Amino acid sequence: MQEIKIELTKNPKAKPQDESKLGFGQIFTDHMFLMNYDEGEGWHNPRIVPFGPIELSPAAMCLHYGQEVFEGMKAYRGANGKPLLFRPEKNMARLNLSNDRLCIPLIDEEFCVEAIKALVKVDEEWIPKSEGTSLYIRPFIFAVDPHVGVHPAHHLVFCVICSPVGAYYPEGLNPVKIYVEQKYVRAVRGGMGFTKTAGNYAASLKAQDEAQKQNYTQVLWLDGVERKYIEEVGTMNVFFVIGDEIVTPALQGSILGGITRLSTIELLRSWGYKVSERQLSIEEVSKAYDEGKLVESFGTGTAAVISPIGELKWGDKIMTINNGEIGEISQKLYDNLTGIQWGKIEDKFGWVVEVE
Ligand code: COI
Repeated sequence: MQEIKIELTKNPKAKPQDESKLGFGQIFTDHMFLMNYDEGEGWHNPRIVPFGPIELSPAAMCLHYGQEVFEGMKAYRGANGKPLLFRPEKNMARLNLSNDRLCIPLIDEEFCVEAIKALVKVDEEWIPKSEGTSLYIRPFIFAVDPHVGVHPAHHLVFCVICSPVGAYYPEGLNPVKIYVEQKYVRAVRGGMGFTKTAGNYAASLKAQDEAQKQNYTQVLWLDGVERKYIEEVGTMNVFFVIGDEIVTPALQGSILGGITRLSTIELLRSWGYKVSERQLSIEEVSKAYDEGKLVESFGTGTAAVISPIGELKWGDKIMTINNGEIGEISQKLYDNLTGIQWGKIEDKFGWVVEVE
């Protein structure tokens, strides 16, 4: 394994005192991880350095053609005070899925988990302690060849930054209002919808902006071909409890294979719930609502954790779910998932990794 050089900052920043005001992704720790890829040399020069600006040519290809991928993961302050990571190997595996789709050279997944652990260790004091907080970790890779021409890059940078965070949505665990998007689409099969790449989020901005003007937190995307089948919500995968079945859209190439989604399915199945990964049309959800069978809905994501959905607006129809309150299953999932992540509940699945 390559050696990671560490250069500690000479100017540590003051850490946030009031953890109730962290918000999301606005404050950054003292250090970051960097590694370069140059054709012929592979990934090399892994290092932890003081957090700061990165020098980039204005012709850098990531700025022009969007050859960029990223991940989202968190470090938690465990009950014993030690930092904990949640299924970090899954994030690195997904990063390589994204890399492959965007012609980015694959990373050594095991090494990158070690690099992230080393960074979290260096910035350990930045992991907030209050309930509901964590250290958000953002690994990302971008193309830096100075070339105004479209081709896979020969030079890239892998960077990891960290940010102490609270809840992603200002609503916290209170149910969010979601707008079913019928005009814009996010992705189609064969495209990049299953990857975490900047372009997918750029594609979502217009719809999100319009939804927010109508007082909705996020949009629910429908499939890009028939505009019929449910895909995912802005920054989360989505689940619907219909009668005694819990349904989430199957992974068919256009939606993100969330790690919280996977963990949610595994947890629910371990409790004996019937979970189906299948096609689910918005008509089916609406019919279930009319028949009183739409019991609950919630989103899942690393940033969002478990986010109950209290209202869905589809055209002129407004569906209020579970009286706009958090449902039993959403609450149970939130408690158990965060309990495991924060080391308060026994981790029967072996998901949690301690940072030594
Ligand atoms: C995450 O859930 O980690 C994400 O990357 C979603 C978002 C913050 C873009």
